Amino acid sequence: MADITSVLHETRVFPPSAEFAAKANVSGMAAYEALMNEAKSDYAGFWGRLARENISWHKLFSHVLDESGAPFYKWFDDGELNVSWNCLDKNIHAGKGDKTALIFEADDGTVTTSTYNDLLKRVGKFANALKSLGVTKGDRVIIYMPMSIEAVVSMQACARIGAIHSVVFGGFSAKSLQERIIDAGAKVVVTADESMRGGKAVPLKAAVDEAIGLGGCNSLEKVVVYKRSGGAVNMASGRDVWWHEATASQPDECEPVWVNAEHPLFILYTSGSTGKPKGVQHSTGGYLLGALLSMKWVFDAKPETDVYWCTADVGWITGHTYVAYGPLAMGMTEVIFEGIPTYPHAGRFWEMIQKHKVTTFYTAPTAIRSLIKLGADLPAKFDLSSLRLLGTVGEPINPEAWMWYHEHIGQNRCPIVDTWWQTETGSNMISPLPGAVPTKPGSCTLPLPGIMVGVVDEAGHDVEKGHGGFLVIKRPFPSQLRTLWGDPERFRKTYFPEELGGKMYLAGDSTHQDADGYYWIMGRIDDVLNVSGHRLGTMEIESALVSNPRVAEAAVVGKPHDIKGEAVVAFVVCKGARPEGDEAKKLVAELREWVGKEIGPIAKPDDIRFGDNLPKTRSGKIMRRLLRAIAKGEEITQDVSTLENPAILEQLKQAVV
Ligand code: WTA
Repeated sequence: MADITSVLHETRVFPPSAEFAAKANVSGMAAYEALMNEAKSDYAGFWGRLARENISWHKLFSHVLDESGAPFYKWFDDGELNVSWNCLDKNIHAGKGDKTALIFEADDGTVTTSTYNDLLKRVGKFANALKSLGVTKGDRVIIYMPMSIEAVVSMQACARIGAIHSVVFGGFSAKSLQERIIDAGAKVVVTADESMRGGKAVPLKAAVDEAIGLGGCNSLEKVVVYKRSGGAVNMASGRDVWWHEATASQPDECEPVWVNAEHPLFILYTSGSTGKPKGVQHSTGGYLLGALLSMKWVFDAKPETDVYWCTADVGWITGHTYVAYGPLAMGMTEVIFEGIPTYPHAGRFWEMIQKHKVTTFYTAPTAIRSLIKLGADLPAKFDLSSLRLLGTVGEPINPEAWMWYHEHIGQNRCPIVDTWWQTETGSNMISPLPGAVPTKPGSCTLPLPGIMVGVVDEAGHDVEKGHGGFLVIKRPFPSQLRTLWGDPERFRKTYFPEELGGKMYLAGDSTHQDADGYYWIMGRIDDVLNVSGHRLGTMEIESALVSNPRVAEAAVVGKPHDIKGEAVVAFVVCKGARPEGDEAKKLVAELREWVGKEIGPIAKPDDIRFGDNLPKTRSGKIMRRLLRAIAKGEEITQDVSTLENPAILEQLKQAVV
């Protein structure tokens, strides 16, 4: 495996405006560099200072980082705190009790709000209800809920009593849910009768029943059911209880349980490259610190004036750190949304920004790309002047999609923070600080202060700038995962492989640094293609395709080729209607030439296919493994139950001839 060849050439640079920089929490490159230098010269001192300044400790820690059990690192080990206290009581004591914490917009447009005082009461009541059901510190609670105030309340209530939550996205099947109940050894499942998405009811309680029916959920004692839609559900007597009944007679005050900084706050399952999902286990103190600092540094949080909206579901890490915890710990007002971007019309996001006067908007490239497909006249119909900062996460954003976001949503005014991070890292790792770091479309730019990122080869040696390699984080950092639930050996092998010395965190992505030290994510290591001895990241060929005016989205995979080793196969979604017949043939020829010119003949796709959409996971990531099977003409054996739209697979199987 030689190093990975970088072929994307992007030269546009967007420095922050003087006006934005002047008011920013980190203002100017010198301020960014000062923080980074502080971390480099006194690593423990840097993190210790920030942990003391940003977190309210019940008992202050006496030491910062314990590396003796590497890679099982401990942070602020003898400190004690409570995350729910830091999110709610702390703000109320600071005089923010009547401030709106959550603005919830339901699928049908109904808006409900909750102040910090109100949220604390709801959390207290539900925490007491959990206690009455026998939940104590360290017990696992599965949360399988629609986006709702109650979903946030459930998570915060677990944190309040030291129970470990594991949120399972409401779009996951009964089988996935059953696996997670068993693996976590969950005592309680919190769910709803149904969730509402795009005008349709999605049965949740029925899926819980089915999961339990599959067997093996021996640890499970109770199921709490929140009445969202009023749809019919079966309630098993002795096991199932209604949320409103369980909370009815509970007091709304609940003393927080002070836990050690290393106490697990939650487990979140993420799919592994093979088989069994990984139960990513996060800590309390280090995780909270990562959430708080990134809110300040990356989202430039201004709690007094901002209306923050992260569109992620609480079923994903983004919805944990930037919905359920980070914004509340900062004392922000935030929007949460039950529905989907295209219902009842494709301008829903932009309409909501106008309606709630959103200042900070954080979403995924997949959402941006699917809205690009529908044209720029849609956002133009809404008043987006409240926006001051935009963010993206989850996948590399192609430079042309970045430009569209910049022009049509940010109106050339708002910096874009392209935030690279993972379920495992807990909070943003590489991202521009918007008042300091000039941005380049398609690059996540520079690491956050204190995050020691590098690019290495298979032996763990540094790779020179301009060459691709493995993205690693060389020093432990507070918000990183502590282990995989119940599988420390898999944790060690996956993230701290011996080949790299056993102490560097291996992210699993390929990347390169440009001459300015900026990072460009090239895709997952598993997705790298090898064409005639050149290792190419998928992202760069995809970006070349997306820069063609006809193309909205593209996914690239390899298929075996006798001479080249691998040939490039591209799956393309066009703006407007899907081309067919002669038009498709013409476009294939045009796109091959286009890629040849943009990147070089080596990257020209051998095979280009058109679909109305691409197969994506529920969190919006392109399922390249599935596309590889299609490219090879193999039968699909993967589980496609998490696929948003299985019908498009048939379109993508058709070669253009
Ligand atoms: C990808 C989401 C490029 C990457 C928070 C990573 C990105 C994986 C970016 C983690 C970005 C996330 N640019 N790629 N800004 N953000 N990724 O665990 O491959 O759902 O390893 O966490 O998404 O996905 P996860």
